[in-house]
Amino acid sequence: MRRRRSQTESLEERPSEARAARTDRPSRYKRTMPKTVLVLGATSAIAQAWMRLLAPRGASFFLAARNAAHLDSVAKDLATRGATAVYVETADLDDTAGHVALLERAVAALGDVDCALIAHGVLGDQAAGERDFAVAAASLQTNFLSTVSLATWLANYFAAQYRGSLVVISSVAGDRGRKSNYIYGSAKAGMNAFLDGVRNRLDREGVQVLTVRPGFVATPMTAHLPQGPLFATPDAVARDILHAIEHRRDVLYTPWFWRWIMALVRMIPEWKFKRMDL
Ligand SMILES: NC(=O)c1ccc[n+]([C@@H]2O[C@H](COP(=O)([O-])OP(=O)(O)OC[C@H]3O[C@@H](n4cnc5c(N)ncnc54)[C@H](OP(=O)(O)O)[C@@H]3O)[C@@H](O)[C@H]2O)c1
Repeated sequence: MRRRRSQTESLEERPSEARAARTDRPSRYKRTMPKTVLVLGATSAIAQAWMRLLAPRGASFFLAARNAAHLDSVAKDLATRGATAVYVETADLDDTAGHVALLERAVAALGDVDCALIAHGVLGDQAAGERDFAVAAASLQTNFLSTVSLATWLANYFAAQYRGSLVVISSVAGDRGRKSNYIYGSAKAGMNAFLDGVRNRLDREGVQVLTVRPGFVATPMTAHLPQGPLFATPDAVARDILHAIEHRRDVLYTPWFWRWIMALVRMIPEWKFKRMDL
């Protein structure tokens, strides 16, 4: 039976009214430009290109990555481009036990986080993973479980503020398993489903959850592959990501044509798909 609310109930007892009463809750349609930015996997070429767009606008950064020397050069580059502040921390993000303390230090340093980008990932060795579960598990740890750990804390952090953007770089590889990279692809597919659920949970809390699904991007991750016309630059992908954050998009295929390529790939019937060399 539905209970009638008494006139004397406080806003705290009525969470939806309490949320609506907050004046700092952003409109769902208001364009937002991140000012305080946390980047996990900050030495990623895509992440660097994205941060280079924000630094001249005076953003402050907290960067986490596992290669200290590389991280240092990324931080110096952002400072010379106009970043207001750049904090760094060396961290292997496979170490999920250290995530909470890392994220708490990031919030303490920045004071407040507008946007978190989770960018780390490895392509992994598909052939080795087919022979050895430990190799496959290591890929899943980096590409899926570590992101679940980070995103779980960040989702709760943003939900408590009724605002913020959680941005995670997934891949078109998660749209359909292929024999050439299904271990990596399954991690990204798990990530996509996880983020769909987080978005569904947090949308009414004013939190954006953006799943970025790039196609081929010319970065160190793909340096060993022959570069073709479908390859995008990290700069082009970074511009798309920033545009999607500003317009509070949910899922970004970048460049745009991958949405249609993957729609076609998903439509291929399984009896035919299983015989294809993909
Ligand atoms: N390039 C593409 O074609 C493509 C396509 C679709 C999706 N993506 C995704 O885009 C994201 C960024 O990749 P990218 O293209 O920018 O390649 P990238 O430049 O090679 O960046 C990958 C980053 O992940 C970091 N990383 C890996 N494992 C880590 C760990 N355990 N702890 C901390 N950092 C770790 C790497 O650090 P180290 O340098 O220290 O190893 C590197 O900075 C990844 O999630 C990738 O899966 C890329």
